[in-house]
Amino acid sequence: MNWWKGLEGRLRLDEPLRRHSSFRIGGKARFWYEPKDIEGLREALRRIKQHSIKAAIIGAGSNILFDDSGFKGACLRLCSPGFSAISKAGSSSIVCGAGAMLKDIVSFAGSHNMGGAEFLAGIPGTLGGAIIMNAGVESRNISDLVSEVDLMDYSGRVRAVKKENIAFAYRRSRLGRYIVLGAKLRLFAREGELIGRDVRRIIDRRLKTQDYSHPSAGCVFKNPPSDSAGRLIDICGLKGERVGGAEVSSRHANFIINRGRARSRDVIRLMNIIKGRVKDEFGICLEPEIKILGN
Ligand code: EPU
Repeated sequence: MNWWKGLEGRLRLDEPLRRHSSFRIGGKARFWYEPKDIEGLREALRRIKQHSIKAAIIGAGSNILFDDSGFKGACLRLCSPGFSAISKAGSSSIVCGAGAMLKDIVSFAGSHNMGGAEFLAGIPGTLGGAIIMNAGVESRNISDLVSEVDLMDYSGRVRAVKKENIAFAYRRSRLGRYIVLGAKLRLFAREGELIGRDVRRIIDRRLKTQDYSHPSAGCVFKNPPSDSAGRLIDICGLKGERVGGAEVSSRHANFIINRGRARSRDVIRLMNIIKGRVKDEFGICLEPEIKILGN
């Protein structure tokens, strides 16, 4: 019997992963499943484990490179309404599902006169993905807002963990063994009009400095301490460097853009060239910010 029989939610077989990646790169996932709710997720995990199938949780697909050979396991995406709700919790907190898009959190907060989340404007991700990688800009990270995270382990056990017990660091949460179900974010009272003004300014700045001309996964490398990977790659003269369909953006050197037919191996080769040049030039070892999913 097929393991997915009777599961509620949306299941697709041999789903092209490029459809779910802002890079527009990747082979097929053998199973693509969007559970309806927590019970559906738990039941899917139970069956996946029983059949020894590998599982990967996928967020908005904006910080991931899917391998050309696809993924033989099950990709689980928590995007149904049951995982994406945003609501107020008292006067200065909101509760959001893992599948809530950051832009919706920013606009929810703005329309309820709650400030603090403005810096998330323009980050094309989900709350769950943002928490796992502690997404942020400059010195602000999503961990600054988090007060509690609801987690599920791969055996289906759920627990709420206070921020103090999560080892958040720059672009790191150490929550990779868990599935983020949602979180409580602490905000503060602020006039919606001021929030809207800041959000527009942040988005304008991104549009001016970053490359939205072609598909990409945003910044490819983490910034080294007190420096910018983009600045270092730029100084190495790598803007415009190309492998197959992958190219170092001429606008922002920490962006690799897909000029049309890029494959994951083009991106990986280009990343290795960049790492090698930055290491030779500055003695700095760049660490990837994007996650690579393959078999
Ligand atoms: N710079 C260059 N050349 C470039 C790119 C940048 O000289 O090609 C210089 C800039 O002139 C600036 C400095 O490097 O002086 C920093 O650049 P920028 O302000 O663009 O910020 P960043 O450090 O490159 C970080 C985040 C971005 C986020 C911006 C918001 C990381 C790895 N990147 O970029 O996040 O949008 O700050 O200001 O932390 C992402 O994570 O995908 C991402 C795009």
